[in-house]
Amino acid sequence: MARVNIDGKDYEVEAGQNLLHACLSQHLELPYFCWHPALGSVGSCRLCAVVEYADEADQRGRLQMACTLAVKPDGMRVSIQAPFAADFRKQVIEWLMENHPHDCPVCEEGGECHLQDMTVMTGHSMRRYAGKKRTWRNQYLGPFLGHEMNRCITCYRCVRYYRDYAGGKDLEAFGSRARMFFGRQEDGVLESEFAGNLVEVCPTGVFTDKPFSKVYTRKWDLQSAPSVCPHCAVGCNTFPGERYGVLKRVHNRYHGEVNGYFLCDRGRFGSHFVNHERRIRHAGVRGADGVFEARGEDAALDAAKAVLSAGNEKVVGIGSPRASIEANFALQRFVGAENFCVGMADDEHEALRAALEILRDGGFRVPSLSAIEQADAVLVLGEDIANTAPRMALAVRQAARRLTFDMARAAGIPDWQDAGVRGHAQAAKSPLFLATVASTRLDELAAATRHGGAAELARVGFGIAHAIDADYPPGAEDEFTAAAAKALLAAERPLVITGCEARSPALLRAAANVARALRGKGRGRGRGKGRGGRDAALAIAAAEANSYGVAMLGGGLSFAEALARMRAGAAAIVLENDLLRRASAAEVELQRAVVVDALETPTAAGAAVVLPAATYAEQTGTFANYETRAQRFYQVFQTQGEEAPSWRWIAALAAHCEREGDWADWKDCNDLAAACAAANDEFAPLANLAPGVDFRARANTRIPRQPHRYSGRTAMHADANVHEPKAPPDAETPLAYSMEGENAGDQPGAVVPYVWTPGWNSNQSLFKFQQEVSGPLAGGDPGARLLADRAAVPQAYRDVPSAELANGAFVAARVHHVFGSGELSNYSAPVLERAPAPFALLNPADAARLGVAEGGGVRIEELGHTLQARLDDGVAEGVVAIAQGLPDAPLLVHPVVHLAADADFAPRAGGDPNVIAKG
Ligand code: FES
Repeated sequence: MARVNIDGKDYEVEAGQNLLHACLSQHLELPYFCWHPALGSVGSCRLCAVVEYADEADQRGRLQMACTLAVKPDGMRVSIQAPFAADFRKQVIEWLMENHPHDCPVCEEGGECHLQDMTVMTGHSMRRYAGKKRTWRNQYLGPFLGHEMNRCITCYRCVRYYRDYAGGKDLEAFGSRARMFFGRQEDGVLESEFAGNLVEVCPTGVFTDKPFSKVYTRKWDLQSAPSVCPHCAVGCNTFPGERYGVLKRVHNRYHGEVNGYFLCDRGRFGSHFVNHERRIRHAGVRGADGVFEARGEDAALDAAKAVLSAGNEKVVGIGSPRASIEANFALQRFVGAENFCVGMADDEHEALRAALEILRDGGFRVPSLSAIEQADAVLVLGEDIANTAPRMALAVRQAARRLTFDMARAAGIPDWQDAGVRGHAQAAKSPLFLATVASTRLDELAAATRHGGAAELARVGFGIAHAIDADYPPGAEDEFTAAAAKALLAAERPLVITGCEARSPALLRAAANVARALRGKGRGRGRGKGRGGRDAALAIAAAEANSYGVAMLGGGLSFAEALARMRAGAAAIVLENDLLRRASAAEVELQRAVVVDALETPTAAGAAVVLPAATYAEQTGTFANYETRAQRFYQVFQTQGEEAPSWRWIAALAAHCEREGDWADWKDCNDLAAACAAANDEFAPLANLAPGVDFRARANTRIPRQPHRYSGRTAMHADANVHEPKAPPDAETPLAYSMEGENAGDQPGAVVPYVWTPGWNSNQSLFKFQQEVSGPLAGGDPGARLLADRAAVPQAYRDVPSAELANGAFVAARVHHVFGSGELSNYSAPVLERAPAPFALLNPADAARLGVAEGGGVRIEELGHTLQARLDDGVAEGVVAIAQGLPDAPLLVHPVVHLAADADFAPRAGGDPNVIAKG
């Protein structure tokens, strides 16, 4: 630490850190543009000027850019307020604003614009330049982003983020001097699945949230709450914003350990399902004519009771990996654990069970995303995380840069000197080894890649573990396994990532063996856990937001058994689960099914009774992510119809059916969480996961979901009543559906509903909500791990699978697509627009043998389906990778398939211009 005197006051700050970072960490107000906490410093905008004094006697000082000035260990004296610096900053804004259109009244960024804030903060208020403004033609950038180049102030943040941080290729800075254009070479969809972060990275309104613009509301008129992304198992924290009962947009909610400053585009743009026309708004009972009738809650519960009692045996409960822990727990209580199925296909569940067995017994460190970014050697085994856990892939991209930071540090260049680090280390990368079914978007960073079907990739993993420690059973043995073993052994913070995409327990066990072998070696050399030695970390990705939560609850019925009982006449409650995404129509019998869901899925459409569930934005609940980190998401707004949290419907139905149980005690989500914690030791952290309803941050006020400038409270409902309605009560959380109260940022991080602070209207105000820049939130990062790191059990898995033999046919493997493979995001129009047609990836040599060309039809005989062929030399010969989850895509249930060219195949009209190319 170092003592720095800033404007006459001493502060303890981190020596070596840049001064801007240090000032903001002290919550001092120093304007800036081009610096970003995740991107580092380049010193290009010249806005963060301060005066640095040589010593006490120095009265004049010299101008310095704070973002490029390292804090000296023996202290320093600087001034933010000195007129010399303040005048300079004012002039910088004046020249940056020369060409700015001053279109704030019609600009989507207005009211949350960093440029507005900096202009006011520096005091620039009079335009002297009378010349003609430079103007640009804007580009079409796809369904996610709008483009308004005239607003650009040339800070370069967009290309630095998009290219340098996220690895995008199709956004560039064109031109020179005062004529700089930031966009694509030609109109077209921005390819990166992280492009949406430009909305928040751009300090003004050049890159805007296009779906939000269509239903626009000013930031200060949005009601929001702390939430968690429902689209995969990474558990990124979000701020969904609502107005008029419509979910308008999703913004990043900083979490120091999980998503930091960024989301993926499925998370940002995938929540329009909340507003979908196929939302179920009222309880429905199927009439004699087969059409649903809305009969009101009591009649629907009567009908549901009749359906459940008409079954020929005990009621089956099918849970869901996309429903909250509380909803799944309620259903499990209703039907009994022996009649509860977790709602995953059996192979999917088997993989999750294997993952949990490994995490429960293996003694592994399960890394957060911020820990993944620190790994200095990574093996990804059998999971295309860019498509299944995109934000994790972005973290791996940062891990691949570890070596550049080490090299720069050795040369005396600090991490935050972005241009210096990149210039010094050039293209150096930390070792990344990818063993995947097909090419992935991380391949460009890989030291080596290896491809095959699930069993082959498992053998690769076993082979690497054996190469690390010969006591482990042998698997595949080749250059890849030897190089990966060597790199992982040489690393200080090795990381193994795998996942459930392939639904192969053997693959997960192979990954566990690698991590375990590394740990064994570390202990052997006295460099074990806790000392930064070979404390190998293991991350296991999963498909859905609560895959881990529901798998930990467990159930006595397999999916096949549950469906078989339904076919045999048992009644069932199906919780937020489209069974037809996991089983064929012939396997699913819904005549005696009561479906609780938010969307009219094909399963809901076939049920006897449907009960309308609230979406994640309309209720409070808990998801557990891939780390088993339980995180509470909060209700953003109240629904207009009969929608309610699924657990409420289940409790009401249980009471209606006069089932024994503590249903009457369940008043809110907290009661459910407490009951779940009491019933199962592993869920004990749920009891104290977030502040209770009585929590008050200060002055006995609640925490408002609405910013204090929230307007139109009377006008919003003027069609019905000219009086301002009373704010709805919230008996469940310390938040209020109101602008009254205080969101000062020092409350627990779990209950920060938005970021705003005087003078900082944009998301750049975040630093006032952090303990220090890029550190934890002021009140602590939210969530708690359900399975804390455990003591090691030194045993190796020995069930090495045999090599896959297709005997002239093809080994079938699963692949997913970031846009189109997620169930809920497929109800979000902009995401669906990016979804490709169902496809199969083939090695070009196999395709030539079959007579299939790129984009042509390849018939999968066992599935009775023709798919669009995509040629990928990353797919091993004899393997076909079949996309799963896409609309109209067939379910893959066969390990081996036969293929043939289909000359009659007609590709989807217009092709797939928006598909992110593999590789
Ligand atoms: Fe320091 Fe741009 S923020 S020069």
